[in-house]
Amino acid sequence: MKDYVGLFEGRDWIEPEMLGKNAEKDKKLNDNWSREDWKKLIEIAKELKAEYKKKIPHPLLPSQTLFMLFFNDSLRTRNSFEAGMTQFGGHAHFLDPSKIYRPALPGEDVPYKTERIADVARVLSEMGDAIAIRIYGDAVQWKYAKGHKIIQEFARWSDIPLINMEDDVFHPCQALADWQAIDEHLRGKYEKKKYVMSYAYSGGLKPLAVPTSCVLSATMMGMDVVFARPKGFELEESVIERCKEYADTFGGSFEESEDMKEAFEGADVVYPKAWTPRDALIGPWNKRTEPDKDLANKLSAEHKDWICDRKKMELCSKDAIYMHCLPADRGQEVTDEVIDGKQSVVFDEAGNRMHAQNALMATIMGRKE
Ligand code: CP
Repeated sequence: MKDYVGLFEGRDWIEPEMLGKNAEKDKKLNDNWSREDWKKLIEIAKELKAEYKKKIPHPLLPSQTLFMLFFNDSLRTRNSFEAGMTQFGGHAHFLDPSKIYRPALPGEDVPYKTERIADVARVLSEMGDAIAIRIYGDAVQWKYAKGHKIIQEFARWSDIPLINMEDDVFHPCQALADWQAIDEHLRGKYEKKKYVMSYAYSGGLKPLAVPTSCVLSATMMGMDVVFARPKGFELEESVIERCKEYADTFGGSFEESEDMKEAFEGADVVYPKAWTPRDALIGPWNKRTEPDKDLANKLSAEHKDWICDRKKMELCSKDAIYMHCLPADRGQEVTDEVIDGKQSVVFDEAGNRMHAQNALMATIMGRKE
């Protein structure tokens, strides 16, 4: 058995990026992911990717079951976890919340329609080896961080690892796969390189999870991070504070900009994508009791010029890479020319979802012999 299987077994990881948890019952939810842990995961992901490319089997989790609970649609996340579990000799089991008793927080019970998360988590813990959850947007009435709270509640009650497949604050598995893609394309020399996470217009409403996890992980990588967004598209204050702390700790820098073109100048990595303006959400920054989708669409439509096109890519360094978590809104967030062009690494990123998550599953689900 590979020596990384079970490497992180029993560790209780939950915040801030909330990649996964492997907690003993009732254990305090700790903030104990470190940059070194992430680097180890990336090295393991690269090893697993090399084996996959050479068609070398790696059945590291035989007979194990991953329960995947999706409150939202998915192409990459669902299929990368399913394919990963197939490679590992286990099974990824898809759960549609409308086909079970909907998991509920205390106070939100509806007789014979919902089931307390405390009960759902303990039931699944009796018959599987990890639980993975995706929840944001309409599933939580666009109430910022409610999806995150639901994942934390699952984590609190499950006796088996809990993996965040994207909530309304974090998308850590995406950030891990992106870190691997940056590491590969910049050949390990990413520290002090300029990384731009930028808003880009979309006619759809997307959560804040990707920009949040991306700026956190890029500052943890020691990159010089610029967060470019129009007024009204800010991230939560505590995220920005954490980015500044990471920049101080890991030797990079962090700044915000309201000018996409200026931000792109000399960039080595650009990651332009949409998210929802926060005034339209229910959040700690306003007194809303209902989200306002019309307002979100109106505010977004004021920034249709925030598109990643060839002219903006020409402002970057000549070897700059274009990133996007996908799905991308072509013609809105990005032109075909850029996303299909030589600088685009979006399909490597998508493929790395599987390898990075495989590294995570092997280390937190795998048991040491
Ligand atoms: N990037 C990402 O999470 O893709 P899906 O929504 O398709 O899972």
